[in-house]
Amino acid sequence: MAVQFMRTGQQGILLWDTETGFKVGIDLFLSDREDRLLPNVVEIGDLGDVACLLGTHDHADHIDREAWKEIARVHPDMGFVVPAYFERHLPDELEISRDRFLYMNPGTQMQLGPLTIEAVPAAHEFLNRRWDGCYPYLMYILTLSGVRICHMGDTCLYEGIYKNLRDLGRFDILFAPINGRDAARYSRGCIGNMTYQEAADLAGALRPGLVVPGHYDMFADNSEDPELFRAYMEAKYPWIPVAVLKPGEVYDAPAPREKQGKSLLELLRQTEGK
Ligand SMILES: [Fe+2]
Repeated sequence: MAVQFMRTGQQGILLWDTETGFKVGIDLFLSDREDRLLPNVVEIGDLGDVACLLGTHDHADHIDREAWKEIARVHPDMGFVVPAYFERHLPDELEISRDRFLYMNPGTQMQLGPLTIEAVPAAHEFLNRRWDGCYPYLMYILTLSGVRICHMGDTCLYEGIYKNLRDLGRFDILFAPINGRDAARYSRGCIGNMTYQEAADLAGALRPGLVVPGHYDMFADNSEDPELFRAYMEAKYPWIPVAVLKPGEVYDAPAPREKQGKSLLELLRQTEGK
């Protein structure tokens, strides 16, 4: 079994199993807005083999409402995964049948064919937990063919983020936003994400099999240089592979850790025990 993925720009990821062909899209931003810097690398008509779209939160570059309406019409079998926070209004506002949605919140685990989906709160910039315990911003933890993937959506650091992620075990791939935040963006109403240094230090602590920076290339006034992230990682955490990917570039996911055999530390522990 092998898993591949493609960055589609911003936080958009297409992810699939090469053997079964099972494919999902996360945070695809497909609308032809004038302010987007990148052309679409996937067209709505090309998504016929996508089983479901996941949106981490209700911002246009993640749950692309106009594109979702069109996608739902063109691909009537596709499902949609969204935070439970939006359960009451989103299906009607998108004019998509409620039975095509799965709703996620931290503590929920969903099985969609071969894909397992879990959720972790994200803070964009705050957690904004509602009275009923629902969170509007989520990260999704996906397990496909044994490959554990953390797609962080949009998030800043918050108290407990390291523990929340460590409690879910080691990830094979971490998709992390790196565009940061500042007063100029706040004054325009643009809320932020981790800086590239914060994202790198989080990756350094979590030690994923691969880290892929995102959310830096779609809008001129909300970007970051991913090479700064790469250089920081290589200087401070050279043992963690980094992939800075062009939109449209297909990349092989690392083999799941469970299939890579025992780590050196595990072998040493085993030897000590004899
Ligand atoms: Fe975003």
